[in-house]
Amino acid sequence: MKFHILTLFPEQFTSFMETSIIGNAVDKKVISIDTVQIRDFSKDKHKKVDDYPFGGGAGMVMAVQPLRDALESIERKRNSKVIYMSPRGTTLNHEKVVELSKLDELVLVCGHYEGVDQRFIDNYVDEELSIGDYVLTGGELAAMVVVDSVSRMVDSVLTNHSSADEESFAMDLLEYPHYTRPAQIDGIKIPDVLLSGHHGEIAKWRLEQSMMVTKERRPDLFEKYKNKPHEKSVLKL
Ligand code: ADE
Repeated sequence: MKFHILTLFPEQFTSFMETSIIGNAVDKKVISIDTVQIRDFSKDKHKKVDDYPFGGGAGMVMAVQPLRDALESIERKRNSKVIYMSPRGTTLNHEKVVELSKLDELVLVCGHYEGVDQRFIDNYVDEELSIGDYVLTGGELAAMVVVDSVSRMVDSVLTNHSSADEESFAMDLLEYPHYTRPAQIDGIKIPDVLLSGHHGEIAKWRLEQSMMVTKERRPDLFEKYKNKPHEKSVLKL
């Protein structure tokens, strides 16, 4: 999977793409993350990338020319998409992450200032994506969220981890609680069942915990879960 990031702040991606699971995936060449500095493509003598909004109003708007030329500098295969990170986009969720992970390449455009000239969005962007109902100072953090979540779904990125499709959201439930050694700390013990060695009981307990926390914190997800056929959802809550 190839990610191309159009940004005014490529340095924000440095530690993200060099550390932890994403860093390993880049080293193993399972994914690649290339940043493109939009400013390098400005034809303005001062390398300006933005201008005042027609019609007046606060803030500046990113102009079409540097964005279009930056985008056109990228060599892409057919199975790719151009996504503009924006609070006006549809909200990212697990289904969307899975859908995007099936593509070969993603171009993520990070906006700044008041936004981007609508003509760029209308003519060069396939989709607008938001990561939630709040406004960030720029699209970079949102793009990192997309790269991170999509990469997890790419085969062999999660080497030492359980398969991503057994996890929270893949089954419309929040995760059960996790514990590690010691079994007791500051007088606080872990639930007995986890020491029982009884795999069936442990699985049942985990499912119960997942269902309980989902029902309490995310009734919307719980409804979705209840309405889907599940082999083992025999537990009544
Ligand atoms: N840019 C600014 N806010 C954003 C958000 N919530 N999601 C995606 N991109 C953004």
